[in-house]
Amino acid sequence: MSKAIGSKYSIEYSKESREYFEFVKDLLDHEVVNEMKNFRHHYSTTCYQHCLNVSYYNYLVCKKLGLNAKAAARAGLLHDLFLYDWRDEPRKKGELPHGFTHPRRALDNAKEHFEIDKLEEDIILKHMWPLTVKLPKYAESYVIVFIDKYAALLEFGVHCKNRITGSVRHLYRHKHSA
Ligand SMILES: [Fe+2]
Ligand SMILES: [Fe+2]
Repeated sequence: MSKAIGSKYSIEYSKESREYFEFVKDLLDHEVVNEMKNFRHHYSTTCYQHCLNVSYYNYLVCKKLGLNAKAAARAGLLHDLFLYDWRDEPRKKGELPHGFTHPRRALDNAKEHFEIDKLEEDIILKHMWPLTVKLPKYAESYVIVFIDKYAALLEFGVHCKNRITGSVRHLYRHKHSA
């Protein structure tokens, strides 16, 4: 069972997320998307969970705004399909840092495994704008610029909460075993 961080609805089983699940289930079943579970992204969140968070909230916001919610969901799930641990990846001489280069890597990987249309391509490629200098072409691409940061903040919040809960548990155990 999967959930976007901060959402109470399970992606697979809640009626509230049925349309979203229909849009992305072929991607969620695909091994290359599941490979993202092997890479840590922000704090303790995996790339897979981060992409699920971005995809789900991207879908909700674009649906609310009357934009292409299907493209938002699918491109959101693939936007960080770069498939390496960016902390360990050695950078070639003269190569720009990960923040600038990974949207292209993600798009190349996505195109290798899935049919990607022009709108989805722009969403993936421009999600780090303004780092990726060229302006987004579509409203959906601007939405992901904000949702990506929002998801990173949520993930930071969960990380802090887990750290605090862990420390409190540790103190409690220590106090009661003394
Ligand atoms: Fe990214
Ligand atoms: Fe991201």
